[in-house]
Amino acid sequence: MCAPSDDTLESTRLAAHPAIAGVEHHASIGSTQDRATELARIGGVALPRLVVAEEQTAGRGRGANRWWTGRGSLAFSLLWHPDNWNLPREPMPDRALAVGVAIVETLKPLVPRDVPVGLHWPNDVYAGGKKIAGILVDVLSDGQHVIGVGLNVNNSLAAAPDDVRARATSLIELAGHAFDRTVVLLDLLTQLRTTLVEHVATPEHFGRRYNELCLQHGRTLTIDVAGRQTTGACAGIAPDGALLLETADGSQRFYSGVLR
Ligand code: BTN
Repeated sequence: MCAPSDDTLESTRLAAHPAIAGVEHHASIGSTQDRATELARIGGVALPRLVVAEEQTAGRGRGANRWWTGRGSLAFSLLWHPDNWNLPREPMPDRALAVGVAIVETLKPLVPRDVPVGLHWPNDVYAGGKKIAGILVDVLSDGQHVIGVGLNVNNSLAAAPDDVRARATSLIELAGHAFDRTVVLLDLLTQLRTTLVEHVATPEHFGRRYNELCLQHGRTLTIDVAGRQTTGACAGIAPDGALLLETADGSQRFYSGVLR
């Protein structure tokens, strides 16, 4: 399977999306997340601003992780402020999970029905048992957000580093055909706005979706919080975004940490 020969994103169509105010489209960049953060610091750009790249040479993941940006994948960061979509300014720690819900809703119609698509706490989307998307939400001191998404679309994992290939997948691998990445990104922007608005409007109700979409139910997980490890059976994700573990010491909730 290979991607169409001209699989370049169409900036003009992206720029016309009603949820955003402008686009920066890079053939190659270190990291869209870093660029969007730089734009926030410089100021003066109309928001939300989409920064998208065909290639990233230094894509960032959570913590010290790297993000491998395969040719034909989607890598973008949205510089955004809650005001842009008339949302309250209060920080919402589970916003990355809400972004995950938007990605799941975008992907579900694109993969075969028997392929499960859902969330892996804290900020991954899995499809067919492997990671298809990663999310990074950076909240800046002035309340602006940089919502970064890496989504494997038309990229074969054959060219990926061994560790990525073993645990990642892409839409083309799951569906057996290539996708118009511009359309996928336009749909995702629509879904993102709808989802983030719903998240704020009905947080309790919306939060139940985390548990419905959680793919880790019943799995034995070990979480590392500041060097302290806890192991337990996953009992899902609470409406406020906490990971629920049934441990030898009882039920425990985790709002941050790294799964081992
Ligand atoms: C993770 O899985 O740890 C999060 C990965 C986030 C990757 C995206 S790709 C677009 C944006 N730019 C970056 O440098 N990182 C995010």
